[in-house]
Amino acid sequence: MSQQYGPEASKVVSDWDQNVAPSVAKHPVSVVPSRAKGIYIYDVDGNKIADFSSGIASLPLGHGHPEVIAAAKEQIDRFVHVCSHTAYYQLYVDLIKSLRRIAPPCLKDGMGYLGNSGGEAVEAALKLVRYSTRKPLVLAYVPSFHGRTTGALSITAADAKYRKNLQYTLANVVHIPYPYCYRCPMGNKYSECDIACLSYVENYILKMIADSEDIAALVMEPISGEPGYIIPPDEYVRRLTKVLASAKISLIADEIQTGIGRTGKWFAVEHWSIEPAVMTIAKALGSGFPISAILGQRELMTEWKKGAHGSTFGGNPVAAAAAIKTIEVMERDKVVQNAERVGNHLLKRLSDLVEHEKNIGDVRGKGLAIAVELVENKDTKVPAVELRNKTLGIMLKKGLYCIGAGASAVRFAPPLVITPEDADNAVEIFQDSLETASVR
Ligand SMILES: Cc1ncc(COP(=O)(O)O)c(C=O)c1O
Repeated sequence: MSQQYGPEASKVVSDWDQNVAPSVAKHPVSVVPSRAKGIYIYDVDGNKIADFSSGIASLPLGHGHPEVIAAAKEQIDRFVHVCSHTAYYQLYVDLIKSLRRIAPPCLKDGMGYLGNSGGEAVEAALKLVRYSTRKPLVLAYVPSFHGRTTGALSITAADAKYRKNLQYTLANVVHIPYPYCYRCPMGNKYSECDIACLSYVENYILKMIADSEDIAALVMEPISGEPGYIIPPDEYVRRLTKVLASAKISLIADEIQTGIGRTGKWFAVEHWSIEPAVMTIAKALGSGFPISAILGQRELMTEWKKGAHGSTFGGNPVAAAAAIKTIEVMERDKVVQNAERVGNHLLKRLSDLVEHEKNIGDVRGKGLAIAVELVENKDTKVPAVELRNKTLGIMLKKGLYCIGAGASAVRFAPPLVITPEDADNAVEIFQDSLETASVR
C-alpha cells in the first residue's frame, strides 16, 4: 500500500527518497514528525498522533521526558565526548552499576561493556563468548532478529532479504526452530507436540551437526520481538534450560527489544528465571539517545583480555547520562509495574476482540509488548499482509501510530507510561480501523 501523506510530509518524503539510501526500508506506514512530547508525535502537517511504536520499543518514558533531557543537557555542558579508550569517566561505570542493580540475580555481580546500538551489543556478545570460550559455533533461532551488522546478521533469520547477496560472509551459526506455537515450525499443535522442536535440537542438531563442545553459546530473545512477540511455552523454557546445562552451552539473552521494562519485568528472562551468561541491552536504555550495553557474568568477562574489543563512541557520556536517568526515573515512578498492569489490560481488551473479528488469528504478548496477528482466514492462517497494512494506515489517520511485526501482525509497543485510558482509545481505534479495512 502506498501511504497518502499530507502536503508538508510529502515534501520530506520525496526529499528523503532522492537522497537517502533505499536500503533504509520503512515500515508499512510512517510518520513525519515536527516535534514529539510524552506519548504524542505532532507531525509536519499539524496532526497529533499517539505513538504506540515508541521508535520501535525505544522510548519507555515517552518522548522528551523532562528529567532525561535535563540530564543530557547538563552533561552536554560538562563534556560531550572523550572516548573510553582515552579517558576514565564515572558515567560509564555508573551506567553499568545501574544495569547491575536492575539485572537478574545471575548478573548482579557481572561486568559490562557499552556500545552505541543493538547490533553493536550483539557483535560484542558474540565476540566475547567466542573469545572467552575459544569455541567457534553459535546456535540461534529461526525466526529471529538480532541486527544487521555482519556478525549480528549471521544469527538473524527473520527475512531472506536481510541476507540477500551476503550469504558468503555469514558463518559458524546453526539455526534451530523458535517455538512459534501459532505456526509450529514442525507442523504440530501445542500442547500435543511434546515440544518436538526441542527434541529435534537434542536428537538431530546436537548429535549430527554441532558437538556441544564446539558451541560457544545459544543466542535467544526470551520473547521474539520482530517476528511478532512470540512467547515460548513455559515447558519449552524449562526443558531448554536443562538441555543447555547438560550440554554446558551458555545463553546470550538478547534483551535489546524486551529489556528495560518492556514486558512488565526489567528483563524478559525474569518471566522464567532463566540465567543468561550474557545479556544484550539497547533500544529503551537511552530513552532515544543511542547507547547499548552487554552485561556478562564476571568469570566470562574477565577472560576478555585488553584490546579484544572497543569503540570510539560506545558509552557516550551524554547518552550514558540519559540512560542512568531513564533507569532512575523508571525505578522511582514504578514504570515497569505500570507496563505490567496496563499491558495486562491492553492484552485482555485485544484478546476480547478475537471472537468478534474474523481476521484476528492470534493475540499475544507480555507487558506492553503485544502483537495481534491478522489472517485471511482463521483455519488456513494465511497472513493478511495487505489488510494489516491498510489497517495501520487507517489507524494513523485516526491518530494512532502502530507498526507491523512479522508478516502480518500489528505491534503495540507504546511508551511504558501509558494509562489504561490510552490503551482503551488504542483498542477502539484499532478495531474500528480493522473493520473499515476489511470491508474495503
Ligand atoms: C532483539 C533485537 N536485537 C538486535 C536489534 C538490533 O538493534 P539496532 O537496530 O539498534 O542495531 C534489534 C532491533 O530491532 C532487536 O529487536
